[in-house]
Amino acid sequence: MKGLNLILVFFYIISILSCGHSNTKKKVTTSDSATITAKDLEKGASLYRAKCMNCHMKSGKGIEKFYPPLADSDYLRENLEEAIYMVKYGSNKPIKVNGIKYNSLMPASGLTDEELVLVFNYILNSWGNDYGSIKLEQVEAIKRK
Ligand code: HEC
Repeated sequence: MKGLNLILVFFYIISILSCGHSNTKKKVTTSDSATITAKDLEKGASLYRAKCMNCHMKSGKGIEKFYPPLADSDYLRENLEEAIYMVKYGSNKPIKVNGIKYNSLMPASGLTDEELVLVFNYILNSWGNDYGSIKLEQVEAIKRK
């Protein structure tokens, strides 16, 4: 009986491990925002003021039809990987944010991967956004297509 129990425990562990493995295949997803420190948020905020605020505005609301909003943005929430790509490499393809079309130019930010993590964790958690957080490996994994 003891032997059987051990075998059951063994299969139980295997199933947990394989389940965990399939989770790691997910694309860029956000993890618990509780991991961001106040200091990192402040660094993200100052990068935002220097590199993003001219277009996306202090309020994160952008300018309708020209610069899309980051505050309450369905695009940012649902296409995080693409959003990081756009900020990393620049973008001028047509996109739709909260039902409104945008097709202007966002130049590549010129930020390092570390700075991109800080600025994204700031925009994912500002103006009422509660979109989780990202890690350096996720930004590093996004390569030019
Ligand atoms: C010169 C103006 C400009 C600057 C500066 C700029 N953006 Fe953008 N951003 C845009 C435009 C225009 C788009 C839409 C691009 C398109 O249509 O392909 C966009 C799209 C986005 C999107 C995806 C759409 C959305 O609203 O969720 C994100 C996220 C974003 N920008 C974040 C940033 C961050 C972070 C910075 C600073 C590092 C930044 N942007 C700097 C103009 C700008």
